[in-house]
Amino acid sequence: MLSTALTLAAPGAGRAQDLGPGAKSADEQAARLEGQLTLDERLGLTHGVMALPLLPGFVMPPAAIPGAGFVAGVPRLNIPPLWETDASLGVAWIGGRRGDGATALPSGLATASTWNPGQARAGGAMIAREARSKGFNVLLAGGVDLARDPRNGRNFEYMGEDPLLAGVLTGEAIEGIQSEHVISTVKHFAFNDLETGRDFHNAVIGEAAARESDLLAFEIAIERGRPGAVMCAYNRVNGPWACESRALLTSTLKQDWSYPGWVMSDWGAVHGLQSALAGLDQQSGSQLDDKVWFDAPLRAAVANDPADASRLSDMDRRILRSMIQVGVIDHPPVKGAIDAVADEAVARGVAERGIVLLLNRNGLLPLARSVGRIAVIGGHADLGVISGGGSSQVAPAGGPALSLPMGGEGLAATFDLAMYQPSSPLKAIRALAPAAKVTYDNGIYPSAAAELARRSDVAIVFATQWQGEGMDVPDLSLPEGQDALIAAVAAANPNTIVVLETGGPVAMPWLDQVGAAVEAWYPGARGGEAIAGVLFGDVNPSGRLPITFPADVDQLPRPAISAAGLRDDASIGPRRETPPAYDVDYTIEGSDVGYRWFARKGLKPLFPFGYGLSYSRFSYGDLKVGGGKTVTVSFTVKNVGSRPGADTAQVYLTSGAGDGQQRLLGWSKLDLRPGEEKTATVVADPRLLADWDSAAHGWRIAGGVYQIFVGASAADRALVGSALVAPGQLRP
Ligand code: GLC
Repeated sequence: MLSTALTLAAPGAGRAQDLGPGAKSADEQAARLEGQLTLDERLGLTHGVMALPLLPGFVMPPAAIPGAGFVAGVPRLNIPPLWETDASLGVAWIGGRRGDGATALPSGLATASTWNPGQARAGGAMIAREARSKGFNVLLAGGVDLARDPRNGRNFEYMGEDPLLAGVLTGEAIEGIQSEHVISTVKHFAFNDLETGRDFHNAVIGEAAARESDLLAFEIAIERGRPGAVMCAYNRVNGPWACESRALLTSTLKQDWSYPGWVMSDWGAVHGLQSALAGLDQQSGSQLDDKVWFDAPLRAAVANDPADASRLSDMDRRILRSMIQVGVIDHPPVKGAIDAVADEAVARGVAERGIVLLLNRNGLLPLARSVGRIAVIGGHADLGVISGGGSSQVAPAGGPALSLPMGGEGLAATFDLAMYQPSSPLKAIRALAPAAKVTYDNGIYPSAAAELARRSDVAIVFATQWQGEGMDVPDLSLPEGQDALIAAVAAANPNTIVVLETGGPVAMPWLDQVGAAVEAWYPGARGGEAIAGVLFGDVNPSGRLPITFPADVDQLPRPAISAAGLRDDASIGPRRETPPAYDVDYTIEGSDVGYRWFARKGLKPLFPFGYGLSYSRFSYGDLKVGGGKTVTVSFTVKNVGSRPGADTAQVYLTSGAGDGQQRLLGWSKLDLRPGEEKTATVVADPRLLADWDSAAHGWRIAGGVYQIFVGASAADRALVGSALVAPGQLRP
């Protein structure tokens, strides 16, 4: 029995897409359709299964496609099933559909490093086309949990540490996905910012800090992308499980933000029928939970209380309105082959624009094609490029170049794989430098690698850091002795270039000894070519860090991860005994995530948020700052180098917002020819000038003189200015 009926926001209160002249809105159509459902049909839409025969006793529904999820439809009313696949980086494999490959986008951090909304959108549209060609109509994408900790095992799936950058790019990716009539989620709502103990740790944070950080990222992503569904997270937030948090799912999402779509659970994240009352609309992967709460228990509750019947109708209407809104009913998936060439070109474009040049001493890069002897060392660079493990992992058609088990047990063994996309940096380097003598060494013996480096003109060391869902990395060191390998090679040859293929920030004890370093992230289906293109200058690197690289973990709000090493149960089968909740205290930094924490504490990171070098040079000038209801900043950007290139000038608020926090207000990414100059204009979202006012339940702009700067990173104050801003109050 649900205790009291949920005071519902009017479904469909969100902006409905124009469905053509005279057409009823998606919400009106959904209400009419829902009114025709039988009780069985109503209940059937509210729960689904993980469509993978990975658990004993599970029988695949006949209409299901092997993949993350399946929710039966209502054939009688032409309501199709929900065929659900993971995730943000492409059509995932997770042990199903062997041999049915897909195109791997680079990691979310690579997309975020492009600072290019169009790039994010193109990537989303590409993976949605592939999802449709395999019969799916839902992509469990839109991962936007903020990088509160650089060790989080799933940072590679997400878009970094800043709510504006992450929200905008995630929203664009979602828009791209849904433009192909595939529903996208936004996930994991909310504060699933660590993997350790993810399905029983309790994220603790104050309301104002929450609204100004993780929730703002979701709010912006939802505004821009209008995702058909929101996936609630495994963890607890200030006590309640996220999937039964009335504060999150109803007060914030459905009432304050008027979100019209539906809330689906993460897989194995439902702990009882009370979640429906709190605002959960669909139980996903129900065989991973202790019970199919949204079947018999919900039926009994509905039979006993009309208020519960209206909650059930609301659940169904939300699901149906998103199916109509995104067009999955009128535009069913059409199975067919993927366009691998075109799709890999999209992935390569993201990789090329997402690679960040971190160090380039004496113009070591770009390499001349005339270079004589090149040593290529480590990282399985002869085979391909690494990708991250877990539900987001994409296996290419024809299978990965290499797949190394990383020790998972049971169902986790399906997830814990270090898969290499078959795009070999070695082959790509040889293709761009056909006259060079290019020799590969696997790097397992530093002395042998050093000897090869000694006999070479340049040495390129590929260093990998595998990360995966369900676990965090224990520290920021490169694993498997790669720091020692790099140091040995650099000692043998100062013209050493390090190519990092990492899931997130890493420490670089060898940085002063090497000649150049690039961060290539997990570079996706054509990552080898993208890396080679940057090394030889076919591509002028334009990536900018979406996440701070700390000098060491002592600079972090939590130098040690609580309960480090504790693995969750939810994603690996029906929950065994759930260990007692423990707190992860996000009140330490509050909304000062990443660069804001470093600014508040006056810390110098290894590399700051927004940082990245180019083969060109750019200058900024002619700053103008306007005030009033918000801040408008214009300035010029000039290419003063000798190569065409792209620059991302960033605008930050430094004071006027409460206690002098630093906040990204916007940016401008401009392609410029040598000598070319353009004017950029950034108009700040007023919420970024405001503090959340819990008493007023809204955003409050204090007003006064607000200081800003324009720079090439969070630590580069190239132009400084200020403006008078009027006080104001904004609705939530
Ligand atoms: C996983 C993940 C989620 C994914 C889902 C289905 O445990 O947390 O991101 O979409 O289950 O695979």
